[in-house]
Amino acid sequence: MIDGRPWFRFMDRLYSPLPVHDLDPSMVAELCELRLEFMDELIDETIYAKVAHQLREAAAERIAAADAGPVVLDFGTGDGRFSRTLATRLPNAHVLGCDISFASLRRSRPKGRVFQISTDGDIPIGNSRMDLTVACFVLHFTLPVRAFEELHRITRGGGHLVVNTYGPGGVRSRESVERTGWKVVGERDVPDIAGHRILAFQKRPG
Ligand SMILES: C[S@@+](CC[C@H](N)C(=O)[O-])C[C@H]1O[C@@H](n2cnc3c(N)ncnc32)[C@H](O)[C@@H]1O
Repeated sequence: MIDGRPWFRFMDRLYSPLPVHDLDPSMVAELCELRLEFMDELIDETIYAKVAHQLREAAAERIAAADAGPVVLDFGTGDGRFSRTLATRLPNAHVLGCDISFASLRRSRPKGRVFQISTDGDIPIGNSRMDLTVACFVLHFTLPVRAFEELHRITRGGGHLVVNTYGPGGVRSRESVERTGWKVVGERDVPDIAGHRILAFQKRPG
């Protein structure tokens, strides 16, 4: 409590006047920029590594061995740390990254291209271009439903969206994803990390 009002802890050291799942996208971007600025003190690397490993493997499972050069979007790429390891895991893939935070993108050193998107959820990519989208530590925030509609639009029939979730924001995000035409095709807990799940969604083939 500060001055009689509750504050909400995020990653042990950051405090916000609202729970993270109630922040609007601009506030989310600011919080994530702080996370990057104080990354060494804030990120629990053990949790991050375990979740990212499960997410990467779940993503790789969705890429058919026959796929010559799948196009993969890292949605909410931040400083590109997940993109880089995904590109190593999927050496034939073209990995792109996007984020609402330009400050975070400026810190990124990805292998592929990155671009900024607006906070309203629009994504400047043509229809059916993506084979797979991944989102690593993004869906615990509440995203605009439009973002999931857009991800559905830019994905080819039969393509996938693979994410990790936790907390109330994760429940909300899952509902939004399912409401925008995606079907759940895979779901598992992250071993040893209570409450963290990996979800795989597919766009109807055809
Ligand atoms: C906790 S960081 C994770 C960054 C990166 N994926 C990683 O694994 O380190 C969440 C990222 O999602 C981005 N983000 C949050 N809401 C977004 C939205 N609506 N559209 C796109 N990116 C978003 C933030 O700006 C931030 O870079």
